[in-house]
Amino acid sequence: MKLLVIGSGGREHALVWKLAQSPHITQLWCAPGNVGIAQERLVKNDAPVECVNIGAEDLPKLLAFAQEKKIELTVVGPDNPLALGIVDLFQINRLRIWGPNQKAAQFESSKVFSQNFMEKFGIPTAKAGTFSAAGPAKAFAASLDGRCAVKADGLALGKGVLICTGVAEANRAIDEILVSKAFGAAGAKIVIQEFLEGIEISLHALCDGQTAKLFPTSQDHKRALDGDQGLNTGGMGTYCPTPFLSETELAETGRKILEPFMRGCAVEGIDFRGILYPGIMLTKNGPKVLEFNARFGDPETQVYLTRLENDLVELLDASVNGTLGKVELKWSPRASVCVVMASGGYPGGYPKGKPIRGLDEAAKLPDTKVFHAGTASKDGQIVTNGGRVLGVTALGKDLKAAQTAAYAAAEKICFEGAQFRRDIAAKALE
Ligand code: AMP
Ligand code: GLY
Repeated sequence: MKLLVIGSGGREHALVWKLAQSPHITQLWCAPGNVGIAQERLVKNDAPVECVNIGAEDLPKLLAFAQEKKIELTVVGPDNPLALGIVDLFQINRLRIWGPNQKAAQFESSKVFSQNFMEKFGIPTAKAGTFSAAGPAKAFAASLDGRCAVKADGLALGKGVLICTGVAEANRAIDEILVSKAFGAAGAKIVIQEFLEGIEISLHALCDGQTAKLFPTSQDHKRALDGDQGLNTGGMGTYCPTPFLSETELAETGRKILEPFMRGCAVEGIDFRGILYPGIMLTKNGPKVLEFNARFGDPETQVYLTRLENDLVELLDASVNGTLGKVELKWSPRASVCVVMASGGYPGGYPKGKPIRGLDEAAKLPDTKVFHAGTASKDGQIVTNGGRVLGVTALGKDLKAAQTAAYAAAEKICFEGAQFRRDIAAKALE
């Protein structure tokens, strides 16, 4: 089978690495990919994975490439091409593609859509209102004493959520998005949610339009610095599983979210095939959905796919074909930890082109995989090329062992200005 993966981050490296292990795959391309992806080889025939220089949002070129190479399944990593309707475009052209179509991708591309859907179908979420005018928005924020999350409706590179602790701050946030248009058209509408306290976790469910298969829980670390200090980032590290929900509680939480979700999709005529990734707050009044994403998390994918024992091609095929009901997900009993190594300055401005040393030594460690995110090749050397540079991932018999192994590998790797959190998975071990 010939596959194309779209994207270039750590998530896509993990997808390619896992897909390359499938005996079903004879050729695998990635657009645009990265250096780590280009180093992967297929288990079936030792063929190299080929990176093609087409951007993840260049839909016409991706379509032409898939047609030319007779790609049998395209796998979409990031949110933007999904929101742009890549799945619909490929389907119209009779090409098989994995991911939600444009209507289904609205769960991520519009927070107003998601909030209304959750309220209509009884999915547990924060008390919230949706607004397009500043006056009523401010009145609602005042009713929450300003303790709220003000969220731009559309995709805003992960920066569209402003957490407020008082009325003046909430008013500023509302003005910034609705009046000053800090996020452009993505901020034409907003959602204001009450501020929820608790432990935040990630859920993932693989869906095929009828059935949703829940993954184990994982937890991301969104702030740049140890102890959840510093600025919000794309994610500085993950681990899986978390100790915060027992098997029974996870199944119960899954039911409370996924049953109304699937029912709502049927009522609204939404055919959701892909990953539904709800961000969850475990509050004292039970789990509440903060937001939906319609794709794999990054760096959640790195810990999920290192634990997943199924053939990923078979799972994605079942998701596209609507046959997930016949599939059972199998997870390694081991735990996985991913430590993100980032460029100095991230999530603010950062330099690029810093040579990375120690990758070969880290690669020799057992049960360890270094996923590339922002890397490039320059004069025969691997150099930094983004904010999040590497996702150093390790398996261990338990979380402590996985954490120790991931940090042992991270210590072998260096580049000028490298920064990483020292407390990934610490909350689980307290
Ligand atoms: P979102 O993109 O909607 O998940 O928001 C980004 C981050 O803001 C989340 O990962 C949470 O840490 C935080 N957040 C979002 N909504 C709330 C809320 N209602 N209460 C507290 N924190 C929130
Ligand atoms: N882990 C955060 C995200 O993928 O959105």
